[in-house]
Amino acid sequence: MTLSSPEEFQAAAKQHLWMHFTRMSAYNDGDIPVIVRGSGPYVYDDKGKRYLDGLAGLFVSMIGHGRTELAEAASKQASELAYFPLWSYAHPSAVQLATRLAELAPGDLNRVFFTTSGSEAVESAWKLAKQYFKLKGEYGRYKVLSRDIAYHGTSMGALAITGLADIKGDFEPLPPGGVRVPNTNFYRAPDFVADDLETFGGWAADEIERAILREGPDSVAAVYLEPVQNSGGCFPPPPGYFQRVREICDRYGVLLVSDEVICAFGRLGYYFGSERYGYQPDIITFAKGLTSGYAPLGGMIVRDQLIEPFLTGHSTFLHGITFAGHPVSAAVALANLDVFERDNILSNVRANEGGFRATLEKLRDLPIVGDVRGDGYFYGIELVKDKATKETFDDDESERLLRGFLSGALFDAGLVCRADDRGDPVVQLAPPLICTQEHFDEIEQILRSVLTEAWTKI
Ligand SMILES: Cc1ncc(COP(=O)(O)O)c(C=O)c1O
Repeated sequence: MTLSSPEEFQAAAKQHLWMHFTRMSAYNDGDIPVIVRGSGPYVYDDKGKRYLDGLAGLFVSMIGHGRTELAEAASKQASELAYFPLWSYAHPSAVQLATRLAELAPGDLNRVFFTTSGSEAVESAWKLAKQYFKLKGEYGRYKVLSRDIAYHGTSMGALAITGLADIKGDFEPLPPGGVRVPNTNFYRAPDFVADDLETFGGWAADEIERAILREGPDSVAAVYLEPVQNSGGCFPPPPGYFQRVREICDRYGVLLVSDEVICAFGRLGYYFGSERYGYQPDIITFAKGLTSGYAPLGGMIVRDQLIEPFLTGHSTFLHGITFAGHPVSAAVALANLDVFERDNILSNVRANEGGFRATLEKLRDLPIVGDVRGDGYFYGIELVKDKATKETFDDDESERLLRGFLSGALFDAGLVCRADDRGDPVVQLAPPLICTQEHFDEIEQILRSVLTEAWTKI
C-alpha cells in the first residue's frame, strides 16, 4: 500500500501505529499530528504547517533539523561498514567516539560502554554497580537511591529507579532495590526549609544520607541524580547540593550516577551537566543529544576504578546489546560533535541563556504562572490556580487544562513543547541549542496567548 496523501497517512496511523505514552482514544475523533520534515529549529507537518520545536523533539535535536552533513556521515559509514558488534570486536567509529567522550568527560571518567538508549544506559549503570561491588567482595550492595518524581526510563530496571508512581504500578513487581529521596523543587520546599535555597539544598542532600543509613550503607550501590531534574518541571540543584551529595557518597562508598540523558551535550551550556555544577560523578549516563537524533545512541562513561576489577583474569562485565555503539550512530555522533565545535554550540547557549530566562520570566505577570525555573536551554513553567497560596489544580482540572486544552492549543498555535502533570502541572521547554532571541520571543508570544486563554477556562 502506498501512502501518498495526508488522509491516507491518518487512516494508516490510526490502524497500525502504536504511539508511546499516548492515550490512543484521544485521536478517535481528531487527527494524529504527522511531522514530515525539519529545518533548523522548525518542523513541518504533512499539511505544510510550521512549528517551532520547543522541546528539540524529546530533548534530542541539539543542532536542529536538516543537517545534511550528519546524514552524509551516516551514509558514508553505512557504505563502509554498516554493522559490526562490540562483542569482542571494535570498529573505528566506536573507538574514536569513546576516545573523544573520555577527553570531554570530567576527571577520570575514561571508559565508555555504549547502549542504544537512555533506559539501557541507566540499567547498564545499575548492572555495573552490582557486579562491581560483588567483584570487590561487597556482596550486599544492590540498592539504588533516586529522587521523587524523577524519570529514569521505562525498561524494568530503569523503571525501578524512576520515581513516578503512576507509571510503575501496572508493572509491579519491579526489581527490588529502588529507594526514593526528596527532589530539589524549591518552589514546593517543606516549610521548615522554605526560606533559604542553600538550607533547603543541604536538607535535600542530607536526606540522601538519612536514606543510606536507614537502608543500611552496606546495601546501597548507587545514587542516581540528574543535574537538573526533568520530570516535575526542571529542578536545578541548589548551590552546594551536589558537593554535599559527593561527600555523602564518598563517606559510605556509594557510587554517584549522574543521569545526563537530557542534560549532557549542551542542554546546560556544557558538554556535561556535572561540569556546570562542579561535581565529579562516578558514572555519567547519556543518550539523546549525542547524535542530535540523527541516529540512536546512548551509553555510560565510567571512572577508571570501576573497570579495574574487570581488567584481569576471567572477570567479564556480563552485559551487552546487539546494536549498542552501532557504527552508523557512532559516526553520526562524531559528526555532531564536529558541528558543536565548529558552530560554537555551547557558547551560543551560554551567551543566550540569560535572554531565554528573561524572556520566559516575563510570563510571571500571568495569573496562571506560579514559577519559572531551569538553567541553560531547559525550563519549566509551573501552572497554579492561585499564585499567592501556590494552590495547584486538582486531578479533574489538570485533566481539563493540560490534556483537554493546553497540549492541543500550544501545538495549534505552532509550538511543540510539553504540558506535563507527572508532578504539579508544568509546561516544559528545551529548544534546539541553535535558538536565539527571535525564537525565545516566538515561544513567549505563543505561551502568553495560550496561557491567557487557559486561565479563562478554569
Ligand atoms: C534522565 C533520563 N534518563 C533516562 C531516560 C530514558 O531514555 P530513553 O527514552 O532513551 O530510554 C530519559 C528519557 O527521557 C531521561 O530523561
